[in-house]
Amino acid sequence: MGELHVLEHPLIQHKLGIMRDVNTCTKDFRELLDEISTLMVYEVTRGLSTKPVEITTPIGPATAYVLSGKKLGLIPILRAGLGMVDGIMRMMPNARIGHIGLYRDPVTLEPVEYYCKLPPDIEERDLFVLDPMLATGGSSSAAITFVKNRGGKNITLVCLIAAPEGVSRIQRDHPDVEVFVAALDEKLNEHGYIVPGLGDAGDRLFGTR
Ligand code: PRP
Ligand code: URA
Repeated sequence: MGELHVLEHPLIQHKLGIMRDVNTCTKDFRELLDEISTLMVYEVTRGLSTKPVEITTPIGPATAYVLSGKKLGLIPILRAGLGMVDGIMRMMPNARIGHIGLYRDPVTLEPVEYYCKLPPDIEERDLFVLDPMLATGGSSSAAITFVKNRGGKNITLVCLIAAPEGVSRIQRDHPDVEVFVAALDEKLNEHGYIVPGLGDAGDRLFGTR
């Protein structure tokens, strides 16, 4: 079963608390999601492999360790996943970016695909699927299935807030996928929103409502 990692770092928790507040404006919400995404990279990339290289410092020869060249890919789920891209790219600027457009039907809560464009060589890449909200898990699970159907193998899911239902769904549908979240919340409400959550992530990020 794919492991769940809850990143309970004080800075992440502090910033997430401000994001959750209903009085936080769109500009601050966007900036905080960007900053938390950068902070999450540290743990999310802990498993990347390195290789030794010989260098010379001003003092003398040394062995340094560099990433061993595996290609990286970020796959934000539109819309809200876009808010995580820049913060992560800051730390891995050579990653390729694919996009998957999904919206959750408000009645059935089932994901509906409207866009998919992925790098051609995704089978060679360590892939990070991005979506701030893991609610029922339908959207993230469908996105991961699309990626696998197009050849993606090594996939990690990175979210801001998860409901237990969403985590269980990913672990059931994709037991090979590790999940990183900043918070594991209590439950879903009758409309499929995470409680306490932060409301509609896409609307808060882009100022639509
Ligand atoms: C939100 C969110 C996830 C999805 C989570 O997107 O960004 O993609 O809901 O819900 P689920 O786990 O139950 O599938 P939404 O459908 O509101 O689309 P948007 O990002 O375009 O606003
Ligand atoms: N999508 C959101 O944006 N928020 C939720 O709480 C659930 C799904």
